[in-house]
Amino acid sequence: PLVLFATSEMFPFSKTGGLADVLGALPLALHRMGVNTAVVTPMYGRLSSGEWPVHLLHSGCLVGYPWAPVTCDVYMADYYGMPVYFIDRAEYFDRRYHYCTHHGDYFDNCERFLFFSRAVLEWAKHLGQPPAILHLNDWQTGVAAAFLHYWRKKDFFWKESRSVMTIHNLAFQGRFSNRLFENSGLPTEAWQMDGVEFYGDFSLLKAGIAYADAITTVSPGYAEEIVTPEYGCGLEGILSHRSHLLFGILNGADYDVWSPDGNRFLNCPYSHDSLEGKKDCKRNLLGAFDMDPALMDRPLLGFIGRLRQQKGIDLVLDVMAKLMDLDVGVVVLGEGNPEFEQRLSELVGEYPGRLRAHIGYTEELAHVIQAGADIFLMPSRYEPCGLTQMYALRFGTIPVATAVGGLKDTIIPYPKPGSTGFTFARPDADLLAETVGRAVAVWDKSQQWRAMCQRAMATEFSWDTAAKRYLDVYRLAGATL
Ligand code: ADP
Ligand code: GLC
Repeated sequence: PLVLFATSEMFPFSKTGGLADVLGALPLALHRMGVNTAVVTPMYGRLSSGEWPVHLLHSGCLVGYPWAPVTCDVYMADYYGMPVYFIDRAEYFDRRYHYCTHHGDYFDNCERFLFFSRAVLEWAKHLGQPPAILHLNDWQTGVAAAFLHYWRKKDFFWKESRSVMTIHNLAFQGRFSNRLFENSGLPTEAWQMDGVEFYGDFSLLKAGIAYADAITTVSPGYAEEIVTPEYGCGLEGILSHRSHLLFGILNGADYDVWSPDGNRFLNCPYSHDSLEGKKDCKRNLLGAFDMDPALMDRPLLGFIGRLRQQKGIDLVLDVMAKLMDLDVGVVVLGEGNPEFEQRLSELVGEYPGRLRAHIGYTEELAHVIQAGADIFLMPSRYEPCGLTQMYALRFGTIPVATAVGGLKDTIIPYPKPGSTGFTFARPDADLLAETVGRAVAVWDKSQQWRAMCQRAMATEFSWDTAAKRYLDVYRLAGATL
């Protein structure tokens, strides 16, 4: 039996955030457990790294239905023995940015991902092997659950296939004008409150939630939150209605990539029992950003993430003066909201040597900051799972985070026994500053801080554990595996 993942991004081939990291690791964990696993993903232009050669498997029309042919090329890469299929249709996917530019979302996103979702199914059919599980991720592939639901009724090929929808972020809903439903290829009966209709619009995420045989999200905490109006983004009704099929499975971290030991981006490796290298990493980081060398003796705070409301970067900006009063350094890596980028740049001018930012997306710098910082800031307003705080823990960089979603599930807050970080109850700027103050006070007691770093580094979020839980959900969804 085949488990077929559909995703709009997958590390190391494409990435805008944590979704890519998950798809670079979870399918592989299943594959390594002996499950027949494959991934289908779009081909966004040429693959950037020559490390993964691809070869053409198919060119032209996939059988499909005559009224809506699916025409694309399909390439394949061998990812540690697991097939990854790339749907190549240049007019839709040969774009540098996957979903939007600085001017906003692409006008044809609905068409692009309807096409991709259908292509995933048609490709499975072309392979001649019905997937036992079709594992969908976020709005970009949600609608495939609706296709499967209806096709299963009339096409014997799909009879035994089941779908699982994983929600990585409920705020991105793939919500489009109802006019786009007409040519979607879905039957008119799908246009209903328990189907793809959402306040008069066509929602691709809701399609996934409504039609999947099981739904998962990426932490137990977020699974509890999203059935409430505060975090449900308007979908709390249907999620509560289907909550018997909703499971929170905590993401893992891929320590082959995210570890201070044997890291390809670091020249001063360190580990749990030899923290010396971390000092060198800090010195390198201060040097690379041309920061005040006196910060070697003060805490250095790092932030890595999309500069969006979700991540609470505005809270950090709001309390910059208070943070600076604590005599610390701050280094930010991120891009996103132009207004936040602008405010950040202005602040950098105010605190030369103490506050630095790199506005952009750089995989290497993410590792360099994880390793060189002392404290990792993550004041998210909501956080489905959050991977960067998991990585920070492994790098011995102590997280200061809001107690929401996956952050609450992964950080043991000081002063609890076994603490690995600091949390605060609400996304509030003053609370953030106060909590950083508490962290700095512990930092000053170097013995205690060192012990906390060692505990943090020993934390393990394993993909194997998560993969086993997904197997249970696949069975619950009705798949014979
Ligand atoms: P989200 O998926 O909500 O953005 P996660 O914490 O799950 O948050 O994952 C974010 C991923 O994207 C991490 O791998 C992080 O290192 C990476 N990342 C975010 N912003 C940047 C950036 N500006 N440069 C490099 N990597 C980034
Ligand atoms: C989303 C969420 C993030 C999560 C990631 C991977 O981007 O915002 O919290 O870690 O997906 O599941």
